Amino acid sequence: MIYFFWFIFAAVIVDSSYADWHLVWQDEFDGEELNLNYWNYQLGGINFGSHEIEYYTNRTKNIRIENGHLVIDVQIEKYDSYNFTSGRIHGKQAWTYGRFEARACLPSGHQLWPAIWMMPHHSKYGGWAASGEIDIMENKGDHPAIFESTIHYGGKRPYNTHTASGPRNFHNDLSKDFHLYAIEWDPKEIRFFLDNNHFFTANIDRMMWSGKGPNPYTRKGQPFDQPFHWILNVAIGGTYFGPGPYVTPEQAKYWPKSTMEIDYLLVYQ
Ligand SMILES: *[C@@H]1O[C@H](CO)[C@@H](O)[C@H](O)[C@H]1NC(C)=O
Ligand SMILES: *[C@@H]1O[C@H](CO)[C@@H](O)[C@H](O)[C@H]1NC(C)=O
Repeated sequence: MIYFFWFIFAAVIVDSSYADWHLVWQDEFDGEELNLNYWNYQLGGINFGSHEIEYYTNRTKNIRIENGHLVIDVQIEKYDSYNFTSGRIHGKQAWTYGRFEARACLPSGHQLWPAIWMMPHHSKYGGWAASGEIDIMENKGDHPAIFESTIHYGGKRPYNTHTASGPRNFHNDLSKDFHLYAIEWDPKEIRFFLDNNHFFTANIDRMMWSGKGPNPYTRKGQPFDQPFHWILNVAIGGTYFGPGPYVTPEQAKYWPKSTMEIDYLLVYQ
C-alpha cells in the first residue's frame, strides 16, 4: 500500500517537471519583417525527392510578417515552369533536447501539405534519414482535423525507417483557429502534444539502426542526440498524396484557406 501511494506521488512529481523548463529562444514574429538572424529562406522548385509541385520564393506575397504572425501564403500562379508558389524557412539556431512549441493555424484545401518540423543541423550520421528528422506536425489539407507526427532515422535512404503516430483525428478543424503543437525531447523519448494533450511518444532509448544497409550508429539514442533546427513550410502535392495526379490550378480555386499562420515558436530547455 505504501508503495502504491509512493508511485502516485512520483508520477505527479514527474508530470510537473514542465515547471523546470527555461525559455532559451523565441520568435514571436512581432517585427516588421522576418528576422534573418534567425531564418534562411529555401528558394526554388526543389521537389525534395517527394515530387512536390510548388516553387518557393522569398516574396512577401508568399511569406511575410503580418499582425504579429508569420504568414506562409500559397499562390496559384505561373512561376518558372510551376503552377504554385509558396514559402519555406529553415532556422539558423539548433538545439539538442528541450521542449519545442509552435502556435499555428493550418491551411485547408486539396493537397496542401503544411509542416512544422525539425532537421539535423550537421547531418553527423550521414544523408537522409541517417541523421534523423522530427516531424512535429504534418497535415493533408483535405482533412484539417487530422495530422500526424513522425520521426525518421535508421540509415541513409533506402535503408531508413520511421516511427509515427499515424494520422490522428482531433475532431476539430485546425484551420479555424490557432493551436499549440509541441514536443518534449529528452535522451529517452520524444513526446508529442496538441494543445498540451500528450497523444504520442517515440522511444529513442534504443539502437535506432533500421537493420538494413550500413549501421551509421554506435550508441543508443543516435541520431537524436545532435542539434536540430526548425523548418516551416506549406508544400503542395507530391508523394505524400500518392502517385498523382496532383492538384491543378483549376481545383485549387476551391481551397478554403491557402495560408498557414504561426503566432510564435518557443524553445525551452
Ligand atoms: C530573395 O531572393 C533573391 C534571389 O536569391 C535575393 O536576391 C534577395 O536578396 C532575397 N531577398 C531577401 C529579403 O532575402
Ligand atoms: C500546371 O497546370 C496545368 C493545367 O492544369 C497542367 O496541364 C500542367 O501539367 C501543370 N504544370 C505542372 C508543372 O504541374
